[in-house]
Amino acid sequence: MSKLILGILASGSGSNCRAIHKAITDGLCKAQIGVIISNHAEAGVLQYARENHIPAFHIASDQFSEISEFHTAVENCLSQHQVNLVVLAGYMKKIGKPILDIYQNRIINIHPALLPAFGGKGMYGHHVHQAVLDYGAKITGITIHFVDPEYDHGKIILQKAVEVMENDTVESLSTRVLKAEHETYYKAINLFANETN
Ligand code: GRF
Repeated sequence: MSKLILGILASGSGSNCRAIHKAITDGLCKAQIGVIISNHAEAGVLQYARENHIPAFHIASDQFSEISEFHTAVENCLSQHQVNLVVLAGYMKKIGKPILDIYQNRIINIHPALLPAFGGKGMYGHHVHQAVLDYGAKITGITIHFVDPEYDHGKIILQKAVEVMENDTVESLSTRVLKAEHETYYKAINLFANETN
């Protein structure tokens, strides 16, 4: 395997996807984006992909009568674009077993807290930051990890701590955590790039 080709799966605005793309165009990340897939037709990330001439597809489970057909469609799309690292960037859908099997240790996710704290089913978006504040944690952060069949569970690749301030709100905390995500995700991708060259 010579070139690292990313398949980015995202459901929302895709600010992490944009940050990875910027790191690539700035020469900081040794990879290329092969394809972007979203399960939401209106996702900002698809709009961004179109504006930047990146191949992008809307693939959602409700387009298929069987979930296995949905998995096959995602899998085919990734392989047609020669993807060798699947990057989840705010993808609000569980990855199916067939894809996990094909891309073993080649699917990574970013979580806006220091796993294993504040992770698992239902722990996404503002719920994570609200739980951190409710608990009174003084440190939170981000985790980039391999994806396995359990939510927020696979082996950890990189983490970065973010301090919780006395007067933080969900909004202020999530803004700081997201900034840390943008500064870090591409560095985890570089670990794979070094390995493939
Ligand atoms: C990020 O907070 C990420 O940690 C989580 O989903 C959010 C995605 O944000 N998995 P964005 O769409 O990249 O802006």
